[in-house]
Amino acid sequence: MSTIKDVANEANVSVATVSRVLNNNGYVNEDTRKKVLKAIEKLDYKPNAVARSLFKKQSKTIALIVPDIKNPFFPEIARAIEDVLNNNDYTLILCNSDEHEDKEKKYFDVMKQKYVDGVIIVTSTLAPNYIEKNNIPIVSLDRPIHQSIPSVSVNNYEGAKEAVQYLKAIGCKKIAHVRGPVSVINADERYKGYLSEVCNEPWFSEEFIINGNYNVLETAKATMVLLSKHRDIDGIFSGNDYMALGVLKAATQMGIRIPQDLSLIGFDGIQLCELTSPEITTMAQPIYELGESAAKLLLNMIEGKAVNPAQQEFKVSLKIGQSTKVLR
Ligand code: RIB
Repeated sequence: MSTIKDVANEANVSVATVSRVLNNNGYVNEDTRKKVLKAIEKLDYKPNAVARSLFKKQSKTIALIVPDIKNPFFPEIARAIEDVLNNNDYTLILCNSDEHEDKEKKYFDVMKQKYVDGVIIVTSTLAPNYIEKNNIPIVSLDRPIHQSIPSVSVNNYEGAKEAVQYLKAIGCKKIAHVRGPVSVINADERYKGYLSEVCNEPWFSEEFIINGNYNVLETAKATMVLLSKHRDIDGIFSGNDYMALGVLKAATQMGIRIPQDLSLIGFDGIQLCELTSPEITTMAQPIYELGESAAKLLLNMIEGKAVNPAQQEFKVSLKIGQSTKVLR
C-alpha cells in the first residue's frame, strides 16, 4: 500500500507539499498540485486516517457517552445525533458508561489519544472541573452538569407536575411515583415535581415513592411490593418509559388491569411504548430534536462559532395512550 512518502518521491516534491495538497491548506502552485494529484492517482494512494488525525490533531469523529444503551431512549437520541454528524462528514463513536466514573474517565483518555473532535455526554458522575480540564469541546445532554458546560435538556420538574396533574384530572385518588436513581439530576427533578403535587394530599405517604433506578426489572419487583401493600393505589407516575414497562409487567403478573384498576403515565415518549398493549400515556420529550440540537451545538463549538444559548431547555408534552383512564 502506497504511503505519503511514495507519493512525494513520485511527484518529486516534499511530504509537506503532498500534505498541503491533501488537506487543501497552504500555498501550492498549480503545476505542483497537478503533479501530486497525478502521483496519487498512479499509486492509488489512500490517505491514512490515523496519520491524518495525528497531523491535523483532528479525526472528524465525535463521541457520544450514554449511561445505559439498553434504555431505548438513547438509541433514539443517538439516531438524531448521527444524522447531523453524517451530514457534516463526522463519524459517531458510541460509548456506554454504566454510570461508572472510572469507565467515563477511561473513555476521555482514549478520546484524547485518538484526537476525537468533541463529546456529547449524558452523565451524573464526572465533575465539571474534570470535564473542563480535558479541554475538549463538550455538550452535556439530558443531564446538565454545570452552567459553564453547554447543555440540552427538558423541563423535567414541570413535566412531572403535569403528569401528576393529569392523573388527578382523570380521577386518580392515590398516586405513587417510581423514581429514577437518586442524584441523577433529571430523576431528582421529576421526583420533586411529583412531590410538589402530592405532598399536601391527606392520602400521601412516603411509601408511595419507590426507586426503579431507571431499570425495568428493578421497577417490576419494586412495583409488586408496592401494590401488594397498597392495592388502593390507582395511579402511578413512572419517572421514565423504560421503568413504566416494569410497572406494566408487575400489574399484569398481579392481575391488575391497566387502566381500569390502575392508571399509568410515563416520561420520554419512546417508540417502544407505542407498541405495548396498552400503549403507554407519557410526557413525551422531543427526542429527535434534543439529539439534533446537541449535535449542532457541538459542531458550532468545534468550528468556533457563537454558542447562544449555551443552555437549551425544551418542553415535554402530554401524549395520551391507553394506559390512563379516559378524561370525562
Ligand atoms: O437517563 C435515563 C433517562 O433520562 C431516560 O429514560 C430519559 O428519561 C432521560 O431524560
